[in-house]
Amino acid sequence: MMSTYVLDAGNLLMRWLHVIAAIAWIGESIYFVMLDNSLRAPRGQHARQLGVHGEMWAVHGGGFYHNQKYLTNPAELPDDLHWSYWKAYTTWLSGFALFAAMYLYRPEFYLVNPDSSWAWAASLTGMQASVLAVAFLLLGYIVYSQLCRRISPTMQRDGLLSAAVGVMMVAVAYLTVHIFPGRAAFLITGALMATCMSANVFFWIIPGQRRMVAALKTGNKPDPLDGMRGKQRSVHNTYFTLPVVLLMLSNHYSFIYTGPWAWVIMCLFIFAGALIRQYFVLRHMKKNRPVYPLAGVVLLVLALWLAAPASTPQQAAGQGSDMTRVQSIVAARCVQCHSATPSYEGFTAPPAGMVLDTQEQILLHASQIKQVVASAYMPLGNLTKMSDEERAVIAAWSSQP
Ligand code: HEC
Repeated sequence: MMSTYVLDAGNLLMRWLHVIAAIAWIGESIYFVMLDNSLRAPRGQHARQLGVHGEMWAVHGGGFYHNQKYLTNPAELPDDLHWSYWKAYTTWLSGFALFAAMYLYRPEFYLVNPDSSWAWAASLTGMQASVLAVAFLLLGYIVYSQLCRRISPTMQRDGLLSAAVGVMMVAVAYLTVHIFPGRAAFLITGALMATCMSANVFFWIIPGQRRMVAALKTGNKPDPLDGMRGKQRSVHNTYFTLPVVLLMLSNHYSFIYTGPWAWVIMCLFIFAGALIRQYFVLRHMKKNRPVYPLAGVVLLVLALWLAAPASTPQQAAGQGSDMTRVQSIVAARCVQCHSATPSYEGFTAPPAGMVLDTQEQILLHASQIKQVVASAYMPLGNLTKMSDEERAVIAAWSSQP
């Protein structure tokens, strides 16, 4: 019991760190994309002579800022250069720690999908599912990176590369939704995109910048390919940010990942996020293209339409399930976990704060109970072996007296 509490407390603190690091990283990354796209040709004669590529004036925090960008040829490079990478690494490390503490620690709850339509996936052990989940992150990055290196090594076919990465994400969505429970599938796909983002910083952007700085320090000309490669990867990161954040939040909304269209819904969200991001990227360049967010909204509406619960058939009078029967089912299948004092091993507090001990509590959560039972999201992993007949009883229950 105590060790579960320690794990829960650690989870809370780690999640706090993860969200703060991600805010700092994504915030800085969005800021730099804005800065890069807002640069104007330098106005002053002096700046042009120094080789300034572009500049931006800003007012913030009670003062004025004057940013100037040099491509690879600043006349002098100070030693106290500001680097950006710890935010990216901290986000990934804390994210992986959370993933381990929850999904890898209890794979039979969270990673095994006994309802998978693929027989081999339905029969995975917790250990096998864990290995597979980690393999998705690792192999996913390798495939993504190979696409970049083979399709557009000198940035000559970046459009084709974007399309290939899009196809890859559709394949990942399809595979994860069929192999893992929906909740894990959305998280793993988001974590894979986030792994690509952090790995882009670690393996490409930062090493390229280090080579550029080293060249300048020794009086050599930096290889422009280093700058271009870093830029290619950071452009991908920009379009990943919105989808990743949505996939991370999706955990709390079981309706988007429990239906038969979950993988399509996931793809629609990913592309909607990228399209909406595109609008802001262009806006910084003073181009106003509302067609992008509109297309994004169309995809979102389509996703939410696909995710909407099927309307429950009208009950003929007198056929509804009565409250006593519902309560006995809940008592048999749910309160092991959803109780003020859970008896299921590994739970010290009711999950999602949902207590179903009394009739009043069950009535209070009636619509949520019907939704998660109909979608088979609950009981979690069907660990308490709820029967189809019992699900039918819950579906037929009219909670209005
Ligand atoms: C083995 C433990 C376990 C059992 C049994 C179980 N649940 Fe849950 N339930 C959980 C966990 C863990 C969560 C939190 C999951 C999350 O964070 O999304 C949860 C979350 C929920 C939620 C909130 C879902 C959401 O989208 O936030 C509802 C509603 C719910 N359970 C209803 C039920 C009902 C009804 C039953 C019985 C038919 C049941 N649960 C049985 C573990 C269990």
